[in-house]
Amino acid sequence: MSAGKRVLLIVSGGIAAYKALELIRLLRRAGCAVTCVLTENGGQFVTPLSLQALSESKVYTDLFSLTDESEMGHIQLSRAADLLVVAPATANILAKMAAGLADDLASTVLLATDKPVLVAPAMNVRMWLHPATQANMKTLEQRGVQVVQPGEGAMACNEFGPGRLAEPPEILAAIESLLNPAPGPLSGRHALVTSGPTHEPIDPVRYLANRSSGRQGHAIAAALAALGARVTLVSGPVAIGDPPGVEVHRVETAEQMLAACRAALPADVAVFAAAVADWRVDHAAAQKIKKQPGAAPPALTLVPNPDILAAIAAPGAQRPRLVVGFAAETADLMANAQAKLTRKNADWIVANDVSPETGIMGGAENAVHILSAAGVESWPLLPKQAVADRLAGRIAEALSRD
Ligand SMILES: Cc1cc2nc3c(=O)[nH]c(=O)nc-3n(C[C@H](O)[C@H](O)[C@H](O)COP(=O)(O)O)c2cc1C
Repeated sequence: MSAGKRVLLIVSGGIAAYKALELIRLLRRAGCAVTCVLTENGGQFVTPLSLQALSESKVYTDLFSLTDESEMGHIQLSRAADLLVVAPATANILAKMAAGLADDLASTVLLATDKPVLVAPAMNVRMWLHPATQANMKTLEQRGVQVVQPGEGAMACNEFGPGRLAEPPEILAAIESLLNPAPGPLSGRHALVTSGPTHEPIDPVRYLANRSSGRQGHAIAAALAALGARVTLVSGPVAIGDPPGVEVHRVETAEQMLAACRAALPADVAVFAAAVADWRVDHAAAQKIKKQPGAAPPALTLVPNPDILAAIAAPGAQRPRLVVGFAAETADLMANAQAKLTRKNADWIVANDVSPETGIMGGAENAVHILSAAGVESWPLLPKQAVADRLAGRIAEALSRD
């Protein structure tokens, strides 16, 4: 299944490094080309010669090797593979990955890569359960790094608990599923998603904004990608990480968001979850507006922003087959959402009540109503990822019809 796929295997300095030899054997038997990078400390546990003999390929150990750099630079090495695997992954290399350190070949390659990364942690139980390691793992997972969780059992250090390297067949299975993702119901489809707030400048240091966190839109992008869609996410300024497997375009203003959406077309489905500012300041000041003693506060003249949902949903060759808008209201939710559905030529409106007492805007949960020509469907209060998963499922169903 994985024949012809290329794996870059990074072996770091843990007692379980010997199991990397078995993993190489399994990968070779599955038809994968394996290239190894061995950390300096990893070299205390296995020799480059063993890795080379089993992988039948050159082993890289040194960032500053003139020969290696001229044959295959470290940047090229980081991108020539289909997948990077760190097995075993020490507490140290995981911490370096989380912090973005690049002080040897392995960590530099991991920072420079644009390919998926899988880690198989292995360490003493106390090291694994240490809050620092757990926080690093959380950071890495949020960034889309895939993990083969360590097993529980007796350890080389005579302690017992979680931290043992997963067995090589289990690591191989994780590698195979990453190299050969099962085609999802949205495979071959392109989805455009907007997320987050927009920032509309008043002057170089001030802006108009809203409380949107981007959580719902980002979760929808991730859910659509998980069903196999190619997803373009156009995101306003947010403080959350990029969803895995999604192409992200970052913008600030509504006008930039519309331009990025138009540039992303054609798309089969577009979901407009961003909380776009309805107005912007007519002429943003080129310099910071100064407070003058005794002077009246400056008057801001607002002008309407482009209506992104209406612009993309307008009839035309570029209109996505399914256009989903969001209505965030604090009063008359259903009436406003119904009016928006027809006024903007959307196929569905996802309506949610963002009154402060609901805690929805910026919060972790959402209660939505789906409005369409077929009627209204109300979903219970759910975590935003669950709302996203359900919505992605409905989108897949709708696109599979005709
Ligand atoms: C005998 C021995 C076994 C070790 N086993 C592990 C281990 O299983 N996991 C781990 O995270 N660190 C282990 N360490 C500590 C790492 O080798 C050390 O943190 C090193 O800096 C890791 O370097 P690297 O991540 O660049 O390979 C071990 C150290 C020794 C001396």
